[in-house]
Amino acid sequence: VGELSFTNELHVPPELEPVIDEDGRKRFDLTMQEGTSEFLPGQETATWGVNGAYLGPTMRLERGDDVAMNVTNDLPETSTLHWHGMRVPAAMDGGPHQQIEPGQAWSPEWTVDQPAASLWYHPHLHGATAEHVYRGVAGMIIVEDDDVTEGLPNDYGVDDLPLLVQDRSFRSDGELDLNATGPLWMQATYGLMGDQILVNGTHDPYFEVESERVRLRVLNGSNTRSMNFGFDDDRAFQLVGTDTGLLPAPVELDRIRLSPGERAEIVVDFDPGDDVVLRSYAPKQAGSFAEDRLAGADDEFDILRLTAAGELTPGEPIPAELATTPEITPPEDATERVFTLGGTAHINGASMDMSRIDEVVPAGATEIWTIENPSVVHNFHIHDVAFRVLDIDGVEPPPELTGRKDTVYVAPNTSVRIAVEFGEHVDPEAPYMYHCHLLEHEDQGMMGQFLVVEPGT
Ligand code: C2O
Ligand code: CU
Repeated sequence: VGELSFTNELHVPPELEPVIDEDGRKRFDLTMQEGTSEFLPGQETATWGVNGAYLGPTMRLERGDDVAMNVTNDLPETSTLHWHGMRVPAAMDGGPHQQIEPGQAWSPEWTVDQPAASLWYHPHLHGATAEHVYRGVAGMIIVEDDDVTEGLPNDYGVDDLPLLVQDRSFRSDGELDLNATGPLWMQATYGLMGDQILVNGTHDPYFEVESERVRLRVLNGSNTRSMNFGFDDDRAFQLVGTDTGLLPAPVELDRIRLSPGERAEIVVDFDPGDDVVLRSYAPKQAGSFAEDRLAGADDEFDILRLTAAGELTPGEPIPAELATTPEITPPEDATERVFTLGGTAHINGASMDMSRIDEVVPAGATEIWTIENPSVVHNFHIHDVAFRVLDIDGVEPPPELTGRKDTVYVAPNTSVRIAVEFGEHVDPEAPYMYHCHLLEHEDQGMMGQFLVVEPGT
C-alpha cells in the first residue's frame, strides 16, 4: 500500500436534508449517477456516486421517524440500493430482488425502529455488488436514539466524523483498476484489493482536529481487505459502538479490527498540538493466518493524519453508561442452525439461487446460528437483524465483539456462534439475505435467503 504525505483535506460527506412530506414523512432524494473524480493529482477517474461523483451523502435518521427513500438510477446498468444494518420490511431492503432499471426510480418507505448506530448503504445487485461498490456507490446512515445518543460528541464534521475507508487500485491512466489483485486465482479467492487507501473518497487525507474529544464512525467499506485500526503513537481510544448499536459501557482499546462491512464508533482524546496517524496494523493476536495474509490483513499502512489545533474546544466526559438496550439473550429452547462456508461460493453446499428459500424464521425470534469456516478468510452478515457473538471456537469473544453486530469476521478454521435477534416485519414472499461480505464471494454465490414469517405458520 502506497506511502502518504497527507496533502488533501479530508472530505466530509454532506448531510442530506430530507424533504418533509405532508404526512410528516422524511423523504430523502438519492440519485445514483456517473461522474469524474480526481483522487490522484492530475489524474481523472471515472466513478459512480450518489448525488455526486463518488460515494454519497450521510443520512441522519431518528428512531421513530417515518422515512421514504426516493432512489433514482441514472447509472448505465441495473443496480439496487441496500440499507445495511437497517431494520426494514424485506421488500424495502434494497437487496438483489429490488432492482432498479436505468432511468427508473424506487421509493421504499419504513418507520425507523432500532437503537442508535452507524449504518451504511450500498448496491446489492447479485453478481455485480463488488463492482458497483468499487466504482463508488456507498454512503453512511446515522441512526439516533434520544435516550442514548446524548453525551457523545455529535457535532457532525467537527467532533463527529464518518470515516468510510476503502482500498482502491488505479491504472496508469487514472481509471479504477477492476482487475487489481493480480493472478486470476487470487481474484477469485480474495477479490479486488487496492494498493491505495481512500477515506470518504479522499486520497492521502488529513483532518484538523478542533476538539479535545472526537467520535470517529469507522466503516471498512472495502471489498475484501480487513483492517486493524490503531494510532501510530499507540494511544488508547474508547470503543463506544459496534455495527448496530452502542455498547453498554465504553471499552478501552488500542486496536480495532474491521472486516468488510463492519463498523466501529470510537472516541479519541486529543491534546493541543497532537499530530497522530490512524493506521492499519497487522493483527498481533493469533488469528492471522497465511490465507489472511494473502487477503491483505497483514499489510500495514497509513490511513489518515489528525493534527490538533493549539487550542481545543473542551470535550464532555463520555457517559459511563451508554446503550440501554438489553443484551441479546437466546431463550433456553432457541432454534439452532449451522452455516458452513465452503470455498468462495457456497454456504451449506449450495450457491445463491434467487428462487430458493434457504431458511424460514419466525418474526421476533432469537436464534443461535453457528458459522463454520473450514475454508479461506470470510465474514458473515445477516440482513434485518442485530446479533451478539456468543463464542469463537467455544471461547468467549473479546470485549469489542460483545456489542450489537450485523457482520462478523470468521477466520479460516474457526467457528463463530452468534445469538441473532430477528425483526418483526413479516413477508411470506420477499426474502432477506445472509452472506459473506467479502463482495466477490457474495457475488460468486456465498449467499442465502431467509423469510421472516408470522410465528406458528
Ligand atoms: Cu452490506 Cu447484504 O450487505
Ligand atoms: Cu467470503
